[in-house]
This record gives sequence, structure tokens and C-alpha cells, in this order.
Amino acid sequence: MIAAPETLISGEQLHRRVDRLARTISDTYGDGVVLVSVLKGSLLFFSDLVRRLSVAPIVDFLAITPYEAGSGRVRLIKDLDVDLAGRDVVLVEDIVDTGLTLAYLLGELGRRDPNSLQVCTLLDRSSRRILPTPLRFVGFEIPDEFVIGYGLDYAGRYRNLDLVAAADPAVLSEDPDAYVNHFYGVPTGD
Ligand code: IMP
Repeated sequence: MIAAPETLISGEQLHRRVDRLARTISDTYGDGVVLVSVLKGSLLFFSDLVRRLSVAPIVDFLAITPYEAGSGRVRLIKDLDVDLAGRDVVLVEDIVDTGLTLAYLLGELGRRDPNSLQVCTLLDRSSRRILPTPLRFVGFEIPDEFVIGYGLDYAGRYRNLDLVAAADPAVLSEDPDAYVNHFYGVPTGD
């Protein structure tokens, strides 16, 4: 019997915090602010955030992939369509852990001459930071636990959960579907 994963942040807490972040971003920027989603992890956070803004943003997407698992090095596999020159840009991340991914992305986007470039991350696990990174907008500081849900995955699973849960990476590496029954129950066949 595996231990049930612990919910760290409920759906209600997520929605309340995302509301406040959207208000802060709307108060900070005007129409035309560019919000960049880093795929795939920021998918849910990004869509909830942009729909709550009271200014008119330009939204765009980029996707990255690790060179090799655990190397901390990433490469761009989908670039932006929009030209960032002279624009106010907010990079929207799911989680900042070591900060290596973010450092790479800030370097990459910073070279495109934006007027300003800031980071909005849903989760900050600062205890594991290797590269200090300036985070302008933060949803939640979390403890040193592997998390799934609300965009965050393990091997492509669990992204659509409307909560953030602490999961045991040893259990998941044995069986990536180990928590599927817990979260999704037994299929009804409907
Ligand atoms: P960093 O480069 O170490 O800061 O890691 C950032 C990226 O690793 C995030 O954008 C996530 O895609 C992934 N990641 C880091 N921690 C977790 C986690 O606890 N669960 C799922 N993905 C994670």
C-alpha cells in the first residue's frame, strides 16, 4: 500500500492566489504587456492568470526540453512569435527550483531588447536554488518536496489536477501511474 500524496495547495487556495497575482500584474502594467507561457508546466496557471487580468495582454508561448534528464541544461524547442523589442514582458513559470531553466530563459529573452523583463512563478522552491534569480511575482513558496498537479507533471501525468500535491518520486519512478486511482478514481465508462 503506497501512502496517499499530501495536498499542499488546494484548488481554492490556488484560485484565490492567482486572482491576487492577476490584480497585481494588471495594476503594474498597461495594455500590451506580453505574457510568455513556458510550456508545458505553466499551462493551467497561465490560462487562469490571463483570464483574470483587467488589462489587454499579448500572450505567447515557448517550449523547452532538457538536453538530458538531470543535466539542468535546456534548449528551446518552440520559440515565440512576437517580437519583444521595446515591450514589457512577464515570463510565466510553473516552478522555480534550481533556477537554471530560468537563468537560461532570461538570458535568451533579455537579448531581444525588451523594455522590461520580469518573472511570475506559481511556485518557488527557493531552498534548492543554485542560481539566484529575481522573481517579481510569486504565488507560493513550497518546501523541498517533489510536486504534481496544476500543470506540474511526472512523466506527462497529473497535469490537469486542480491542486498541488507532494508526491514521492521513488514511488513514481517505480510506477508513474501509482497515484492515478487516488486522484481520478476508477473509470465509470461514461
Ligand atoms: P529548475 O531549472 O531546476 O529551476 O527547474 C525548473 C523546471 O523543472 C520547472 O519549470 C519544471 O518543469 C521542472 N520541475 C522542477 N521541480 C518540479 C516538481 O517538483 N514537479 C514537476 N516538475 C518540476
